[in-house]
Amino acid sequence: MATGTFPDNFLFGAATAAHQIEGSNTNSDWWAFEHTASSGCRDSSGDACDSWHRWDEDLALVQSLGLNSYRFSVEWARVEPAPGEFSPVALDHYRRIVQRCHDRGLVPVVTLHHFTLPTWMAERGGFESPEIAARLGAYTERVAGAIGDGIGLACTINEPNIVALMGYLLGVFPPAVRDRKRFEVVSDAMRSSHRAMVEALRAGPGRYPVGLTLSMAEMEAIEGGEAQYAQALEHLEDAYLRAVGGDDFIGVQCYTRLRFGPDGPVDIPEGARRTLMGYEFRPEVVEHTVRRAAAVCGLPVVVTETGISADDDAERIEFIDTALRGVAACIADGIDVRGFYYWTLLDNFEWVLGYSQPFGIVACDRATFERMPKPSATHLGRIARSRELGSPVGAEPRQ
Ligand code: FCB
Repeated sequence: MATGTFPDNFLFGAATAAHQIEGSNTNSDWWAFEHTASSGCRDSSGDACDSWHRWDEDLALVQSLGLNSYRFSVEWARVEPAPGEFSPVALDHYRRIVQRCHDRGLVPVVTLHHFTLPTWMAERGGFESPEIAARLGAYTERVAGAIGDGIGLACTINEPNIVALMGYLLGVFPPAVRDRKRFEVVSDAMRSSHRAMVEALRAGPGRYPVGLTLSMAEMEAIEGGEAQYAQALEHLEDAYLRAVGGDDFIGVQCYTRLRFGPDGPVDIPEGARRTLMGYEFRPEVVEHTVRRAAAVCGLPVVVTETGISADDDAERIEFIDTALRGVAACIADGIDVRGFYYWTLLDNFEWVLGYSQPFGIVACDRATFERMPKPSATHLGRIARSRELGSPVGAEPRQ
């Protein structure tokens, strides 16, 4: 296959997460965190994009763009509002989303856990609770029973390494802990929870690929930073890549490059191009991490997230083109890459940073919730339809 073309069954999609788009996820640890003054959260997630009600509008949009898949997450706090108490209404809601995806020709990619916990689970110790793997397993069993026959691809835990890092080592996500020992306990719990969830999904109806989605970066050591680099690689990536044997795919999620000096991560070089998040602009990270994930764990790869926060949509188009060129190069080299999901469909609630980070290919009016596709949405859709990387960077109209 010529570089720049994608196989017929390649999945082109956009990704979202329940808490970031649904709105009023009031029974979750994140909602509580957003409403705690000391958390540093910029905004309350509030009504988010109101996708709890407007989800079919979202699916219609994904379909109309020409994408063939949609990645979304099921919200544990809604499905199991109290321990052992499951909501048929919530399960039915997600069942309708899955069914409608099929009606619209979209492969539904379902994530079981995307950053949030029900408040009752957080109160019982969250990922430090000895119950966590069993609890996530039981929740997953219910979800699998309700929607498994329609799932196209399942992701267990979204970026378990980021949940552990941000929540237990850097103290910026709930429960805002900074403790290496507790970080290690939680990291182990992530891997055992993942296994329990894989088992629960495989024991239920439907046969579909199951995998973990891992946050990866293009990591480098600068002089004297070799030990810090090696430690980060081990704890944030390799310990997970070794734990996914027997899964059906690895989900790669990547945004930038990280450099390590003797004291840990160093600032990006002066003059380097930055995104609105402050990250180094580095779409080449996709090719780097896909190659690395495939080499280390040997599984087929799905790029389950990559994207850029940018006011200037031309930058987003450039990012997408370079990222996809990297994916095409991997495929041309025989690496089994099955899909590419842009993060994210809609400008949405970016955790601690609230509504300040426009990652979406579609803008969302904060008062009316009107969805307004950006040129990048049409651009990605055109690539998805033609399965070819066409026009050179810069050929799109600027927003
Ligand atoms: C990833 C998360 C996603 C979003 C993007 C920008 O780490 O999975 O929810 O926050 O970053």
